[in-house]
Amino acid sequence: MLKVMTVFGTRPEGIKMAPILKALEKRSNIESVICITAQHREMLDQVLRLFNIKPDYDLNIFKPGQTLTEITTRALEGLEEVINIEKPDILLVQGDTTTVFAGALAAFYHKVKIGHVEAGLRSGNLYSPYPEEANRKLTGVIADFHFAPTERNKQNLLNEDYPEEKIFITGNTVIDALKYTVKDRYIFDNNLLNELDYENKKIILLTSHRRENIGKPMENIFTSLRDIVNNHEEVELVFPIHLNPKVREIAHRILGDNSRIHLIDPLDYEPFTNLMAKSSIVVTDSGGLQEEAPSLGKPVLVVRRETERPEGIEAGTAKLVGTDYKDIYDNLETLLTNKEEYDKMAKAVNPYGDGNAAEKIVEILFKLGNR
Ligand code: UD1
Ligand code: UDP
Repeated sequence: MLKVMTVFGTRPEGIKMAPILKALEKRSNIESVICITAQHREMLDQVLRLFNIKPDYDLNIFKPGQTLTEITTRALEGLEEVINIEKPDILLVQGDTTTVFAGALAAFYHKVKIGHVEAGLRSGNLYSPYPEEANRKLTGVIADFHFAPTERNKQNLLNEDYPEEKIFITGNTVIDALKYTVKDRYIFDNNLLNELDYENKKIILLTSHRRENIGKPMENIFTSLRDIVNNHEEVELVFPIHLNPKVREIAHRILGDNSRIHLIDPLDYEPFTNLMAKSSIVVTDSGGLQEEAPSLGKPVLVVRRETERPEGIEAGTAKLVGTDYKDIYDNLETLLTNKEEYDKMAKAVNPYGDGNAAEKIVEILFKLGNR
């Protein structure tokens, strides 16, 4: 029987791997082994609970304040042991984190075939996002099968001379995950979120955590949002803050102490996506949110200099606004005061797939593995 080992470690990998794990579970002709590095701890555990994922191996590598080198070496060492025990036919990784690169490298060292989910995304700048652009390129070089969410992602790989027969356009599994969670009349566990006036107020949902934004860029992002809230009484800002203490410090320093700014802990995926569905505007430097917001018809301002996800921008729902104070402020001001501009962006489009990516990936794996 074909043995597929999935390796993941952070919140977004967990969310995007969950539909694949569900699709693998349904197959009696594939044995599925789940190994988490736990590069994230609490933020990954939230995802495991929601999707009822029970890992076979938990490398538990997380340490507060971990460096890139620590994550890489601890993951590599742990994975070697698991690969030696399990001897999988295919090892599957998802995305561009350090867990992804270490997972692929560990497989490569043991001559295990590698499937790369969410392959072919490129910003064109090795340092932005950092270190993700390098992680996905390094993973691509040693991967055997590339599951590209979009036609453009496939084209990026072809431009780098990857063989066409190894590239499969599948859509992004995050759209599959969204189908599980967004509901019409969702009730939050959190009172604050139930009591927000989604009809009469304009709710801005903010997330920000990118390494290259920590410091001045993040200060600019938060300052422009603070000033927008102060100048618009109809606006409330909700910011579920990533657990990175550097992000938390900047957030509390600049955005703390304002009754219309709600700084909260990371939300579980289900309430988070339902909050996004009820919000007016999304401001983010996250990768996943750039995929989810268009699908929910939410205008999203991407507070980064480059993006590897231009599809949402071309579709008109996302706008790359950079990290300068004035650019962010002015773009928010326009969305808040110009209904025509807002409506132009607030349309549901789905450049990232039809929600069946996981089934497609598992079907391809089955065919490839049995060759
Ligand atoms: C990582 C990924 C990034 C991804 C992001 C998703 C790398 C290099 N980066 O970045 O691509 O977009 O995850 O969120 O792989 N922390 C906790 N508890 C947790 C998780 C994080 O306390 O459950 C804190 C720790 O202090 C940790 C810090 O956040 O040191 C940073 O975590 P880390 O995984 O190193 O990087 P992220 O910024 O989360
Ligand atoms: N997310 C979540 N709770 C939160 C914030 C985000 O579940 O409080 C989800 C979000 O819906 C998306 C994913 O986490 O699917 C994005 O993760 P993150 O921004 O940490 O990483 P990135 O996508 O930038 O790699």
